[in-house]
Amino acid sequence: MRWDERYAGEDYLFGTEPNAFLKSQAYRLEPGQRALAVADGEGRNGVFLAETGLAVTSIDASERGLAKARALAAARGVALDARLADVINWDWPQADFDVAVAIFIQFADPSMRAILFDRMQAALRPGGLLILQGYRPEQVDYGTGGPPQRENMYTRALLEEAFADLDILHLEEHDSEIFEGSGHGGRSALIDLVARRSSV
Ligand SMILES: C[S@@+](CC[C@H](N)C(=O)[O-])C[C@H]1O[C@@H](n2cnc3c(N)ncnc32)[C@H](O)[C@@H]1O
Repeated sequence: MRWDERYAGEDYLFGTEPNAFLKSQAYRLEPGQRALAVADGEGRNGVFLAETGLAVTSIDASERGLAKARALAAARGVALDARLADVINWDWPQADFDVAVAIFIQFADPSMRAILFDRMQAALRPGGLLILQGYRPEQVDYGTGGPPQRENMYTRALLEEAFADLDILHLEEHDSEIFEGSGHGGRSALIDLVARRSSV
């Protein structure tokens, strides 16, 4: 698949450091919690969660990405349950995770996104957190990362509607400089979300 080709090199396309927004939210996490890293690619975010003391399941559709994620986890001396999975066909656990992390998963077009967002929410246990960062439509003009499909991008209204059943703790649109490997570099139109599944 296309991502295996993008991950073919020895270098890590988005680097080996975690996404800065995810890192900024680590204060909300506790060692021992169960985390799901959705479309985790070469594992930079899943490995960060594991280093933070969480038990991490990392899913991605790229064999090459998974192999590099496992290698990164081994190099850092942490456990990572990295599984080859297509987000649409995967047998998603229900109410199982304390946190679901979705960083730049905008391969999903609107119809796939509706399914994916529902499954991510359902995978959270009551009280569980969703941490998400994506691009806004303006990103397509910036051209500093992400796919060219404007309809795959997120707006505040889209995320508010998609996650209306969660308590939104943080939702911010901003333009920021990000440098993540050779894959993401420069001024980027971003949107950040942290939301909690209600505890009842
Ligand atoms: C932009 S990368 C982001 C990777 C990672 N979240 C990060 O921030 O470093 C998008 C990822 O989505 C994965 N992907 C694409 N389609 C997928 C699908 N249908 N199911 C699971 N993963 C998929 C790709 O393999 C790729 O690793």
